[in-house]
Amino acid sequence: AWTDHVREGLLAWYDQNKRELPWRKNKDPYRIWVSEIMLQQTRVDTVIPFFERFMDKFPDLVALANADEEEVLKAWEGLGYYSRVRNLHSAVKEVVATYEGKVPSTPDAVTQLKGVGDYTAGAILSIAFDQPTPAVDGNVMRVFSRWFALWDDIAKLSTRRKMEVLGAHLVPASRAGDFNQAVMELGALVCTPVNPKCISCPVQATCAAFDQGVQAELPQKKKA
Ligand code: ADE
Ligand code: SF4
Repeated sequence: AWTDHVREGLLAWYDQNKRELPWRKNKDPYRIWVSEIMLQQTRVDTVIPFFERFMDKFPDLVALANADEEEVLKAWEGLGYYSRVRNLHSAVKEVVATYEGKVPSTPDAVTQLKGVGDYTAGAILSIAFDQPTPAVDGNVMRVFSRWFALWDDIAKLSTRRKMEVLGAHLVPASRAGDFNQAVMELGALVCTPVNPKCISCPVQATCAAFDQGVQAELPQKKKA
């Protein structure tokens, strides 16, 4: 199917071009979870040193669960949006209390954790547990909008839902986490908000926006 062809090209590109990021060293669900929470409102370059320090201080889920709130907040200082870390701290305690300290691997259980929305749940399930779940954030919506020439307003929840359905169709049964991260990486390195580098894009041959010359007009984002 065309999807196989497209996925393979993207995965091959990812293998060659992915950045060595500290949360890509292994698939420890705790590390993936923390990284995704940090990355929700903060850029990759900013997150890296915070993530390394946080992991030095709280190397595993139990260490974080047992830490004083004050110490945890201090380790987050500079990242801002403190509700993220408050939710994370209470969620890891919940994991210790309810799941013997093991991050659950079912969509229902993961989504019920404080601070874990559909995107973060999809990221954890695909990257840490290799489950073929979509993980659609703003970068992924930009890439999908262009790749498939979707003119829907990405500020709308209904558009996100539509992109999640598309993501669910695209994500392969194996290497799901790599596929999702490949789309994120494409958005970060090639299909950038301004001046996407279509010349060196691994999905150019199947990109509808490139074909139609409308990359600069996508994604559509209207003010509420
Ligand atoms: N942004 C959100 N999650 C990411 C990840 N796993 N890798 C790179 N950028 C990301
Ligand atoms: Fe984005 Fe251009 Fe690649 Fe299409 S060809 S996905 S617009 S970088």
